[in-house]
Amino acid sequence: MKPYRFLLPLALSSLVFAQGSPGDGNIPGVGEPGGPATDLPPAELAMWLRGRALFDHDFHRSQGLGANELNADSCRGCHQDPAVGGAGGLELNVSRFGRDNLGLGPFHNLPGGQGLSKLRPPYVTGREEYDPLQADVFEQRQTPSILGLGLLDAIPEAEILAHEDPDDLIVPDGIKGVARRLTVNGQPEIGRFGWKAQVPRLADFVRDAMAGELGITTPNDGRDFGMRADVDAVADPELSQTQIDEVAFFMLNLAAPQRTGSLDPQVTAGELLFEQIGCALCHLPELQGPSGPVHAYTDLLLHDVMPTAYRGMEEPGAEAGVFRTPPLWGIRTTVPYMHDGRGEDLRGAISAHFNEAASAKTAFQALAPIDQDALIAFLNDL
Ligand code: HEC
Ligand code: HEC
Repeated sequence: MKPYRFLLPLALSSLVFAQGSPGDGNIPGVGEPGGPATDLPPAELAMWLRGRALFDHDFHRSQGLGANELNADSCRGCHQDPAVGGAGGLELNVSRFGRDNLGLGPFHNLPGGQGLSKLRPPYVTGREEYDPLQADVFEQRQTPSILGLGLLDAIPEAEILAHEDPDDLIVPDGIKGVARRLTVNGQPEIGRFGWKAQVPRLADFVRDAMAGELGITTPNDGRDFGMRADVDAVADPELSQTQIDEVAFFMLNLAAPQRTGSLDPQVTAGELLFEQIGCALCHLPELQGPSGPVHAYTDLLLHDVMPTAYRGMEEPGAEAGVFRTPPLWGIRTTVPYMHDGRGEDLRGAISAHFNEAASAKTAFQALAPIDQDALIAFLNDL
C-alpha cells in the first residue's frame, strides 16, 4: 500500500490543468450562480480555479478517500444546485444519530460522534458496529447552498450579537434568538455555518467536510476541525494547508444569489407582507457587513422552531428543536427545504415552522389566498 503516498501529490497537482475560465461555458461567469463574486486579479483567479477544481474533484482511495467516514467522493457530489457550490436534493441528505433514551433524555452522542456514514468503506471496523439498540434517534440533514457565504463569513460578531434576545425581554414578541457560542482553541467564537451554526468559519468547514463527508485528513491548524489521521494506507495529512486554503478561497468568493429584479407589483406586495406578518424578525432582510448591507434574509441566530415533542440531535448550546435561521437568498433554486427536507415546497416550509415561529406561520395561514400567493412570489424572487 505504501506507493499510494507518492500518487497523491502527482494526482492532485494535475488538477491545476483541469481548468477553464469564468464564463467560458464550463465555469459560470462573474456574478452568476457558481461564478466568482467579482472580477478577480489573475493570481487570485488562478487560486479560485484551483479551489473549484478541488471542490469538483472525484477523490479516489489512492488519495485518501473514505476512512473513517464516507458520504460521497466529492464536495460537488452534494453541493450542485443550481451550480457547483450550490445545494443538494433530498437523495443527498446525510444522517446523524445519537441516543435520547426514547425521547426521555438526556441526549448523548455515541462514541465517534453523530455522523452516520452512508458508504462506510469495508476496511474500516468499529465505527458504526454498535448494538443497533444504542442509537434510538436519527436526524436527516439537507445539503445547503454555499453561494454567497463569504459575505456571511465577514459579518462582524458584534452585528450578529446585536440581534440577540435570549429571554424575549428586549422585544417581547415570542421570538428569542441566540448566537451559537463555541469555544475554539480555548477562545470564545460565534458559530455561523451548518444547520445548528456549529462551525464558525468557512475555512473550518473545509476541514470538517473533508473529514465527515469524504474521510480525508487535513493538517492541524490548532482550531480543532477535521481529522488529523485515519486508518487507510495514504500518508496523513491527505490534503495540504495550501489546498485547504484554495477550497476556502473558492467558497469565500462565490457570488451571492441575485434577486430576479422583477418589478411585478405582486412581488412588492409580498415583500411588505413578509415584514408585516413577522417573517423578517428572524429572516432579517439585511445584516451590516464590512462593505455594506448583506441581503441574505438571516439573523445567523438560533431559534426553536420545531414542535415541542421534536426529537433530534442536541449539541451544547443548541437543543433538539433549535436551528439557525437559514438564508433565503436563492431559495427558488434549493428545493426541498428545512434541515431535513420536510418542506417539499415553499408553502410546506412555512407550515413546518412551530414554536418561536408559530405566530408568523399562523399569520401566513390567515392571509387571503391572493396575499399568500404574493408572499410566495416574493420568496421566489429572492
Ligand atoms: C454527502 C453530501 C455532502 C458532501 C459530499 C459535502 N457536503 Fe457540505 N454539507 C452537506 C450537508 C448535509 C450540510 C449541512 C450539515 C449540517 O449542518 O448538519 C453541509 C454543509 C456545508 C457547509 C455549510 C453551509 C451553510 O449554509 O452553513 C459548507 C461550507 C460545506 N458543506 C462545504 C463542503 C465542502 C468543502 C465539501 C467537500 C469537502 C462538502 N461540503 C461536501 C452535505 C455534503
Ligand atoms: C422564529 C424565527 C423564524 C421566523 C419568525 C420565521 N422563520 Fe423561517 N426559518 C427559521 C428557521 C430556524 C428555519 C430552519 C428550520 C429547519 O431547518 O428545520 C427556517 C426555515 C425557513 C425556510 C426554509 C429554508 C431552507 O433553506 O430550507 C423558509 C422558506 C422560511 N423559513 C420562510 C419563512 C417565512 C416565509 C416566514 C414567515 C411566514 C418565516 N420563515 C418565519 C426561522 C424563522
